[in-house]
Amino acid sequence: MGQSDSHLPPAAFVDPDVFQTERREIFAREWLAVGRDDGLASAGDYLSVGLGGWPAFLIRDEVGELRAFRNICRHQQLPVLENGRGHCETMRCRYHGWTYDFAGRLVHAPPAVCPPDLETTEYRLDAINSARAGPLVFLNLQPQAPRLDTALADIATTLPDDGHGHAADTVHSLAANWKAVVGALLDGPGSWSRDFTPRPPRGDTAIIHQDGDRAWAWHWPTLVLFRSPEASLVQIVMPRTFTKTEIHQVLHLAADLPASRTQYWRSLLDTRSELANADAVERQQEIRATARGGGTDAILSSRISPPFATRWSAAMAGRVNT
Ligand code: FES
Repeated sequence: MGQSDSHLPPAAFVDPDVFQTERREIFAREWLAVGRDDGLASAGDYLSVGLGGWPAFLIRDEVGELRAFRNICRHQQLPVLENGRGHCETMRCRYHGWTYDFAGRLVHAPPAVCPPDLETTEYRLDAINSARAGPLVFLNLQPQAPRLDTALADIATTLPDDGHGHAADTVHSLAANWKAVVGALLDGPGSWSRDFTPRPPRGDTAIIHQDGDRAWAWHWPTLVLFRSPEASLVQIVMPRTFTKTEIHQVLHLAADLPASRTQYWRSLLDTRSELANADAVERQQEIRATARGGGTDAILSSRISPPFATRWSAAMAGRVNT
C-alpha cells in the first residue's frame, strides 16, 4: 500500500471544523445506509437516525409506503421523533405539540402555538430521498440524488439477498472518528481478510478483496459488506460527532446451515466486533497523541485504505460532482 495515495493528516480525525465540512460535503450528499426495513412493518413504525449530524427518520404510512423526512419540527427546529426505533399513531412533537400526519403535513397545533394557516406547505416536514437495496434502506439528503442502484452496481452481488436470512445484529458506540472506524473495518482485523487478494477500486464502490466466492466490498463513505455462500455481513458506520461513532453490524445466514456453522458465524461476529472496535479506538488514540505533539505527517500511510483516502480527499476539496 503506497504512502502517497493513502494518507490523511491527524487534523482530519480530531478537528471539529473538519467534521462540519464533512457534514456538508459528504453526509449531506451521499446515499447512507441506515439498516434493514423489516422492523418497520406497520403504519407508524419508525426509525430515527443521525446521518452524520443530520437528524432524519423513516416511517411506514397508512398505505404501506416508507417515507423519509428530516427530523426537524417546523415550529422551532427541534426533533419531532426520538432517536432509535419506535411506533407512533401521529407524529406529535414533544416540545409544544405540533402534530404531523405520515405525509409530513401539519394537522394540529395547540391554540397557544397554532400558526394562522395550518395547511400551508411552509409547515410541512422536509421530505428526503429513500431507496432500498436488498433488505437495506438508504437515505440521501440531496434533492436531486443519483440513483442508488446505479451507485451500487459494482458491488450488488455482495449485498444480502433472499438466499440469506437475517440472523443477528450488533451495535457498538466508539470514542473514535468515523474514518478511523471505516479504516479498521476495511483492513479486516481478524481471520476474515487473511487470504483475500486486493482488487482495484471503481468509482465510489470497490471490491476490496475477493477470493473465489468470498468478497469484501466498500461503498463510499460508510458501508462495508462481506459475502460468502454461507453468510453476508453488513457493516454500517454512523458518525455521531467528530469523535463519536456507532457501528451497526447485521449478519445474514444461509437457511440450511448446520448448527455448528451458524454458531461459528455468530461467534465470529462478536469477535470481529471486538477486534474492529479495539483497532478503531487504538487508531484514534494514536492520532490524538500525534496531533497533540504537533505532528502533521502522514501517520496513517499503511492504515487507511487507498480508495477511501483518495475519495475523502476529493470530496473535501470540492472536486467531486454528485
Ligand atoms: S419545536 Fe416542535 S412543537 Fe415546538
